[in-house]
Amino acid sequence: MTRKETTLDTTSTRLETILAARLSARKSRSQLRSLTDFPTRNADFSSNAYLSLSLIPEIRRAYLSCLEAHASLLSPSPPLLGSGGSRLLDGNSQFIQVLEKNIAAFHSAPSGLIFNSGFDANVGLFSCIPQAGDIIVYDELIHASVHDGMKLSRASQKLPFKHNSVIGEPPASGTTKGLDAVLLELSNGEAGREVRDGRINVFIAIEGVYSMDGDVAPLKEIISSVKHRLPRGNGYIIIDEAHSTGIFGKQGRGLVCELGVEDDMFLRLHTFGKAMSSSGAIILCSSTIREYLINYARTLIYTTAMPFSCLANIKVAYDYLAGGQVDALLHHLYNLVRHAHNLLVAICSRYQVSPKVLSVDQHPPKSPIIPVFTPDPRSLAQYCQERGFTVRPIVAPTVPRGKERIRVCIHAGNTTAEVEALSQVIEDWVQRKHSGNKEPVKVRERERL
Ligand SMILES: Cc1ncc(COP(=O)(O)O)c(C=O)c1O
Repeated sequence: MTRKETTLDTTSTRLETILAARLSARKSRSQLRSLTDFPTRNADFSSNAYLSLSLIPEIRRAYLSCLEAHASLLSPSPPLLGSGGSRLLDGNSQFIQVLEKNIAAFHSAPSGLIFNSGFDANVGLFSCIPQAGDIIVYDELIHASVHDGMKLSRASQKLPFKHNSVIGEPPASGTTKGLDAVLLELSNGEAGREVRDGRINVFIAIEGVYSMDGDVAPLKEIISSVKHRLPRGNGYIIIDEAHSTGIFGKQGRGLVCELGVEDDMFLRLHTFGKAMSSSGAIILCSSTIREYLINYARTLIYTTAMPFSCLANIKVAYDYLAGGQVDALLHHLYNLVRHAHNLLVAICSRYQVSPKVLSVDQHPPKSPIIPVFTPDPRSLAQYCQERGFTVRPIVAPTVPRGKERIRVCIHAGNTTAEVEALSQVIEDWVQRKHSGNKEPVKVRERERL
């Protein structure tokens, strides 16, 4: 063994010891992450593919024909395999530019720019758009990618506001304030004069639907607060529609289009990895912002562009939405959501379940995400998984301590029978808990009544 190799080995062993210690600390806090793989025959109550587009034969056929037609071209652009480089070099094509134009038109936006992922898009835009001295005000539950983008940003202040709270009760001291109070403080604070006269830009970062609770941003209230507190037009709302794309608005155009507030948004992000059953994302914005991003967003400039297979996937998903059939899927989806919620609420009331075992919000869900709270989410999730239903436990720090849950996510591809069977399994688990973890009693309460 050479001297150099010895040094390298020692270094790597020492580093690995440190990293392994960090992993075991994480494990002792029950926070160790790992990659899991469930049998595909399990009913999906977990993925973000809300519309189950990948199961629709018409879309699968359209996707394969799109690939075949492209493969039959003599010199296809982009190439059939790979993309050849960054968008700024050889990775650009007429195909992606036309796709961007069509998607922007579908969402009633002036223009759009496709990124390889929603994560890249958020990091790219938050790291380059706010200028030195600008301020970012963000919902405290904003996605990790926005946090990473903000870390790279030159903004002078990054201030959280209480989740989905605009004007509300004044918070207890030391806790996070609502958006309106944060904006008011900004205009009275140190940089108040520049905020008031519009010299400092204030970016407001929100999501349409929040993925853990499935709740929807009070967008109209947010818009009025921003207009009221920043009347010089220096309040710029950036909305991440990752979880509202495809499932809100006519033909799935999203929350902003549903409310008709396109002109009040500075920038919108639609991701394709969730309801659209594809991958990648588009930033909808003005043509100036698009050009600025092409010049400054490092997550666009320094990465290989998406291959044709992904672009074709996005195109067929949007063609399907634009074709109008999705409205029937949405109707079925929201019927299932209501049914699942009613069944879960009924379990809680039938057994007078203590929140120490299980609880569900009494209000009907506004999205396909239904959090089912329990202090023992791992046990409940495993119970469901072993009986053929994929649901995930969500624990701290992903959600606050005391708000542990399983995240039940309903899909257009789920059936009423699946929803009822899952609810029965959850009911069995509750009964086991009530009877001290013994096997569920054979004659169920509901059948006896
Ligand atoms: C709100 C939100 N924004 C952005 C992203 C990132 O999108 P992508 O998966 O396309 O990277 C996600 C995905 O987890 C998300 O939930």
